[in-house]
Amino acid sequence: MAGNPLPIAVLISGNGSNLQAIIDAIARGEVPAVITLVVSNNADAHGLERARRAGLPVRVLDHRDWPDRESYDRALMEAIDASGARLVVLAGFMRILSDPFVEHYRGRLLNIHPSLLPRYKGLNTHARVLAAGEREHGASVHFVTPALDDGPVIVQAPVPVRPGDTPETLAQRVHQVEHVIYPLAVKWFAEGHLGMDPEGKRVLWDGRPLDHPRQVRVESVWAA
Ligand code: GAR
Repeated sequence: MAGNPLPIAVLISGNGSNLQAIIDAIARGEVPAVITLVVSNNADAHGLERARRAGLPVRVLDHRDWPDRESYDRALMEAIDASGARLVVLAGFMRILSDPFVEHYRGRLLNIHPSLLPRYKGLNTHARVLAAGEREHGASVHFVTPALDDGPVIVQAPVPVRPGDTPETLAQRVHQVEHVIYPLAVKWFAEGHLGMDPEGKRVLWDGRPLDHPRQVRVESVWAA
């Protein structure tokens, strides 16, 4: 592995299965990164347990302890920057981030969203996909820009919607592909391939705009 591993911070609110996938991929030597900090806004997040088990530094910053979004986000930035992180990975961090936060990490702030963006931005994507009778769903990793779930998409993986699916069974399938594409996106970033153009509209790959998000097919979710 060439060069030093990229220091990254991972922000969570809940189960932390994407955090776990990144921890495991780093441990297998597949991603040249080191997690310098895991932050949760929720003291009960199971992801904190995963982080502690992996021996990672953790911080709980409960948003209810700050008077407003801006001051909370300033505290977040201080904690992240003090850890030395160069990339911020949102992994089920269920808070809207203020513009100064997003600006501060411009081009080095990633999010994973449970849909094939630009479709199904926002919450409850699995139930909405089922209600609309879609045959395909999926997950996307994107750079974060100030508009919600709107930044340029780096990589996507589709999943089939099967007869009889519930939001829970569909979510499980989406998680399977998330655990493949999020470590992959972090790897690409850590290897220096990824960037975002100055307008925040396009993903750059080795400095050249990507015409379409990269597509990953995770065979296990397509097997009958
Ligand atoms: C993931 O499915 C992620 O796509 C979603 O939260 C889940 C977190 O799971 N994120 C969003 O909905 C962001 N809008 P995890 O805690 O097990 O990684």
